[in-house]
Amino acid sequence: FDNVVILLAAGQGKRMNSDTNKQYMHLFDKPILAHTLDVFQNHPLIDEIIVVTRQEELDFCQKEIVERYNFSKVNRIVIGGKERQESVFNALRVVDKENCLVVVHDGARPLVTPRIISEVIENAKITRASIVAVPVKDTIKRVNSSKLVVETLKREELWAVQTPQVFTKEIITKAHERADRENYLGTDDASLVEKIGQSVNIVLGSYENIKITTQEDLDIAINILRRRKACE
Ligand code: CTP
Ligand code: MG
Repeated sequence: FDNVVILLAAGQGKRMNSDTNKQYMHLFDKPILAHTLDVFQNHPLIDEIIVVTRQEELDFCQKEIVERYNFSKVNRIVIGGKERQESVFNALRVVDKENCLVVVHDGARPLVTPRIISEVIENAKITRASIVAVPVKDTIKRVNSSKLVVETLKREELWAVQTPQVFTKEIITKAHERADRENYLGTDDASLVEKIGQSVNIVLGSYENIKITTQEDLDIAINILRRRKACE
């Protein structure tokens, strides 16, 4: 199997309340997206990377990220869609390798580690559909629109799902085509794969593999990076 990464950076980062797309904000020495790309560029199991960006940021992504840091595994930059799911679908259309594994990852998760990438890919080689997740720490309740608790879910059954999510090209393509036909919009790729009846396996991620979503996540990420650098 070849392993092709779809790296998503076509969101607007509304919850971050910043003028620039959050992926282009700096963490220490370089933009968040460059941190994320570093991990995949340096990973021996990764063959190529497709970056998904917004039309307005295409030029910046090409020149200030991909060319500037010499990310030689990036062979395509494609334009994303309005929803995350459309962004993935746009990238899937340009995956030209047959029989490959597609590794979908959020550009906003720069703290992913080589260990996580290796484990989820190795697992997907066997199972064909494998995603990274961690057990939830908080108790999760279902709540209605009047802020009334409807029920308390069993914590031992609940996992918070992260990326990477890895599927054979055949499975993820079939899942996206079906979701597109049926106008189904999911919040992750695995939910589309579940809909075609394919079982999805969990690989243990890390509580550090956060998605940078709001301002406070920036401080958390900086602390994690600082600690990792000190350990190098
Ligand atoms: N993403 C994308 N295309 C979209 C929406 C999201 O490629 N149309 C990407 C984001 O760039 C991010 C990842 O999907 O790397 C996870 O999405 P999220 O954290 O929700 O990012 P944003 O949509 O940018 O943020 P927000 O929801 O706060 O606007
Ligand atoms: Mg979003």
